[in-house]
Amino acid sequence: MIVLGIESSCDETGIALYDTGRGLLSHALHSQVDLHAAYGGVVPELASRDHIRRFLPLTRQTLAEAGASLADIAGVAYTEGPGLPGALLVGAGAAHGLAFALGVPVVGVHHLEGHLLSPLLSDPKPDFPFVALLVSGGHTQLMHVMGIGRYELLGETVDDAAGEAFDKTAKLLGLAYPGGPALSRLADTGTPGRFKLPRPKLTSGDLDFSFSGLKTAVLLASKAAPLDDRGRADLAAEFQQAVTDVLVTKTIAAARQTGARQIVVAGGVGANRQLRERLTQAAGAAGCQVFYPKLEFCTDNGAMIAFAGAMRLKAMREPGAFGVQPRWELSALAPA
Ligand code: KG4
Ligand code: ZN
Repeated sequence: MIVLGIESSCDETGIALYDTGRGLLSHALHSQVDLHAAYGGVVPELASRDHIRRFLPLTRQTLAEAGASLADIAGVAYTEGPGLPGALLVGAGAAHGLAFALGVPVVGVHHLEGHLLSPLLSDPKPDFPFVALLVSGGHTQLMHVMGIGRYELLGETVDDAAGEAFDKTAKLLGLAYPGGPALSRLADTGTPGRFKLPRPKLTSGDLDFSFSGLKTAVLLASKAAPLDDRGRADLAAEFQQAVTDVLVTKTIAAARQTGARQIVVAGGVGANRQLRERLTQAAGAAGCQVFYPKLEFCTDNGAMIAFAGAMRLKAMREPGAFGVQPRWELSALAPA
């Protein structure tokens, strides 16, 4: 079954074709970074308009690269949320229109489920159950993943997400939008330890995170004395070290708590080189293996949505896919 995936939750239009038999056939991405750079952040209305402009060319490109035609599409998946309402509506409208015209099923995918399952797009793949560290611009969560759709939240940030902390700190240090990758590059040229930043919640005993204080500590440090280039790089390096210290420590604690031997890292901050190196090392020492999505699938993309959608559509088709829920909390219902 070939599924077309559409991602349009924020500032990237991603389209992909995933075949449940052959795997990922093709994918295409357009980033709106240049469009929003002048404003120092994403402008929702501009994002929506650009998704509209990109949808058809990217879909044609994805089909051509896979050697497929519209008639090969057996299902359409799109990001239903969370994200910018207008941007999400573009993907939802395109997906529903296309599915209606082709007479195929359509499924809305949770953006974070897409990120969570993205390491399954590469080989070697993790087996269920695993612990997932989800670190994106909007979320920082530790999940126990027991199967598709079987997710237990172990801990999450009580304020800023890790990616948000990277972006805000980058702005404080005068780096251009999008700040996360730029801050990480600057940090790699500096030396941690010269400035002393806190490691929030490192010893709190739970699996929650807090990053907003760290950004304030960077602000105070940068105001205490004028920073030259060396100082900015060293402060960035200490910030990156502080964030990775907490992420690595809590992820290993989550693996210990659940008994999971496999760890998955997903979301944009998963592209951070230092996080990857240090987590791989710490996990190895704890007898665990870490799986990362390919770098291109760490940040937002259509492939993860096509994959998560294909898994959902496949499950809906399986014999006995119908079921009953004798114990079903009213609060667990999704809004209509
Ligand atoms: O998953 P993603 O593409 O979008 C959301 O769903 O939020 O994540 C984007 C976030 C941004 O905050 C960006 O600054 C951060 O991921 N990011 C990084 C790196 N690459 C992207 N943060 C640190 N180091 C990186 N190399
Ligand atoms: Zn994302």
